[in-house]
Amino acid sequence: MRQVDLLLHSAGQLCVIPSRGQPQRGNALGDLGIIADGAVAVHDGTIVAVGSTTSLQQTYRAHLEIDAEGQCVTPGFVDPHTHLPWFGDRANEFEQRVAGASYMEIMAAGGGIMSTVGNTRNASLDQLVADNLPRLERMLRYGTTSAEAKTGYGLETAAELKQLDAILALHQQQPVELAPTFLPAHAVPSEYKGRTSQFVDLVINEMLPAGAEWMRQYQTQLFCDVFCEEGVFDVDQTRRILEKAAALGYRLKVHADEFVGLGGTKLAVELGATSADHLVKTPEADIASLGQGKTIAVGLPGTPFGLGHSEYTPAKAILDAGGALALATDLNPGTCWCESMQMAIALACRYMGLTQAQALVAATLNAAHAINRGAEIGSLETGKQADILILDTPDYRQLGYRFGTNLVKRVLKKGTIVSES
Ligand code: NIG
Ligand code: FE
Repeated sequence: MRQVDLLLHSAGQLCVIPSRGQPQRGNALGDLGIIADGAVAVHDGTIVAVGSTTSLQQTYRAHLEIDAEGQCVTPGFVDPHTHLPWFGDRANEFEQRVAGASYMEIMAAGGGIMSTVGNTRNASLDQLVADNLPRLERMLRYGTTSAEAKTGYGLETAAELKQLDAILALHQQQPVELAPTFLPAHAVPSEYKGRTSQFVDLVINEMLPAGAEWMRQYQTQLFCDVFCEEGVFDVDQTRRILEKAAALGYRLKVHADEFVGLGGTKLAVELGATSADHLVKTPEADIASLGQGKTIAVGLPGTPFGLGHSEYTPAKAILDAGGALALATDLNPGTCWCESMQMAIALACRYMGLTQAQALVAATLNAAHAINRGAEIGSLETGKQADILILDTPDYRQLGYRFGTNLVKRVLKKGTIVSES
């Protein structure tokens, strides 16, 4: 008998999500690798064996046993696109949008992202951290065990670095692991109105080097992201920013084709970006490019839903092209204040045409690849981190089918119970 820290057993369905070291691409998406009456052995926070309850109970003696009582067990959700941390809210703008104003109209009039920038610039680091901790607590309760977090509400060097400091503090103060992204090109700040190319110069010459210095200081890998959109940063400006970022050691992401199909997705693939996100208006030829490169396509169905739009990421076309599709919330105070990956799954099933199994893989394994952590998280395979959910249902197909209530009963992070409801 081998001694381990934990044996989680009697899972009615244990969703392993087999990876072979890769995301599940194209129409191969949706392989859950279910083990009936499954068990997981964990030692030092790492999965050491996965199999049937009978076989693992014969091999392992554990300090702690958790009986899943026939319920479904899955990997923790990975949310690879959030705009945490920010300060304040924009309930007033939602009211305007309900009355007919569009998101881009509000932004052009100086509201939108700039309104959150004002609040975030004025908040202290401590205020930013305190205000965002409860959001992470809700994410964890709803099953998110790792997430990406972006700057982009500072838009000046000191305020962008303050957001990075807040992400690091939040990462250290609670169980959800955060992958930080530097997004100084999230909007053109009002002081640069009409002078976008000068702001791009500032991003390239001052902000990106400052972020790179932060990376060195804290020994933390950063992604660099750009909001490539009509009226914000065009494809040439996005390319200039991302090429400089790559030269400074950042990994790349792009907000692409959210409102207009400008070409951000194709650029992301060409530059070898880790992910291209949104992809609502992506031209067909650009979708085809996702089948060639390693860039993960991230669908954010909460965003069109949050905006009351009817067009969603064309998942079928992306899968037919052989692309690797992930899901995320886009959690932010403007377009989509939603902390729940379960909600993203429910929307993806309805409006992106994914089956529950496809959506579950997109929200775990493929989402892990979208933040370059596919080797450590996103599936219940030997050698991976023991980030595990015990659901409040024996059948994974209840994910997506049911929405608005929490189907996660227990959350384990690195083999330790961190949330129970
Ligand atoms: O992903 N599109 C740009 N950024 C966010 C919205 C941010 C905001 O409105 O505060 C998005 O939708
Ligand atoms: Fe976003």
